[in-house]
Amino acid sequence: MVSYKELGFVNTKQMFAEAMKGRYAVPAYNFNNMEQLQAIINGCGKTKSPVILQVSSGARKYANQTLLRYMAEGAVKMARDSGYDFPIALHLDHGDTYELCVSCIETGFSSVMIDGSHHPYDKNVELTAKVVEYAHGHDVTVEGELGVLAGIEDDVVAAASIYTHPDQVEDFLKRTGVDSLAISIGTSHGAYKFKPEQCTRDASGVLVPPPLRFDILEEIERRIPGFPIVLHGASSVLPEYVDVINNNGGALKAAVGIPAEQLRRAAKSAVCKINIDSDGRLVVTAMIRKVFAEHPAEFDPRKYLGPARDELTRVIMEKNRSVLGSARD
Ligand code: G3H
Ligand code: 13P
Ligand code: ZN
Repeated sequence: MVSYKELGFVNTKQMFAEAMKGRYAVPAYNFNNMEQLQAIINGCGKTKSPVILQVSSGARKYANQTLLRYMAEGAVKMARDSGYDFPIALHLDHGDTYELCVSCIETGFSSVMIDGSHHPYDKNVELTAKVVEYAHGHDVTVEGELGVLAGIEDDVVAAASIYTHPDQVEDFLKRTGVDSLAISIGTSHGAYKFKPEQCTRDASGVLVPPPLRFDILEEIERRIPGFPIVLHGASSVLPEYVDVINNNGGALKAAVGIPAEQLRRAAKSAVCKINIDSDGRLVVTAMIRKVFAEHPAEFDPRKYLGPARDELTRVIMEKNRSVLGSARD
């Protein structure tokens, strides 16, 4: 058993209390490899933003849970050696079993999500409460979920969103003891969050998605005032990078995300954590495609992964400053 405290991580309790008070959201960025992790640490270090490093089930399959945890430990050391002073949490994204949450806690994660949202309500309560009991014994914070996001949530595919029922939240908190709650108000995972027929078009023909259900968020806030809310599926699917991809041989058709203004509005509310994975993937893919299109003879990975990492660092800084409001530089 290794305590996350020995590794230099923090849990999310203080982070969320400060985000609630300061009316911003802490960014939760997913990472699968070294370049993404470097971009997150440098981007958040330079903007003095707290950060939650997220490890998904896809990331564990791709890179190995143990390796990712040691990379994250190394990232804390790198941050401190670089003179950056900002809190870093290591978080399990979409944990689906009690055993997985325990194994992450035992190896140094400071926060876990137990996603029982696909189960019937009582099973979700039972599973979440069991994880909370173990996690709190180690001062690890737990995120639960109520409501289902459309799209692919790790290996589970849901055809349509099931919005969170505000009348369940008080009971869920009371019976589980979770520290934060992910809700469903119209976001979804991946680059195709809305079907074109759900969108309108602006004057220049760009697809405009339907607004998030802020009415549901407000009702939830009314019922559990001051409680930290989490938004998954919150990438904006940045159109400039979708264009770079499509202009350099890619074929991302009708990719639509959550507009930055809506995320900004959410960040000023009880939403204390905003999850971003797809935007990072798009930025990396756009830069790699661009390098290959411009330099077809290039074969040194550092020559295309380096520009991808640097661009991702810039995007993270921009998001922290103008979307999440978490930057303190
Ligand atoms: O759950 C949200 C993540 O974006 C899923 O990512 O494909 O690495 O499991 P994954
Ligand atoms: P995006 O696919 O919108 O980046 O969402 C990521 C996420 O919610 C990870 O849990
Ligand atoms: Zn998610």
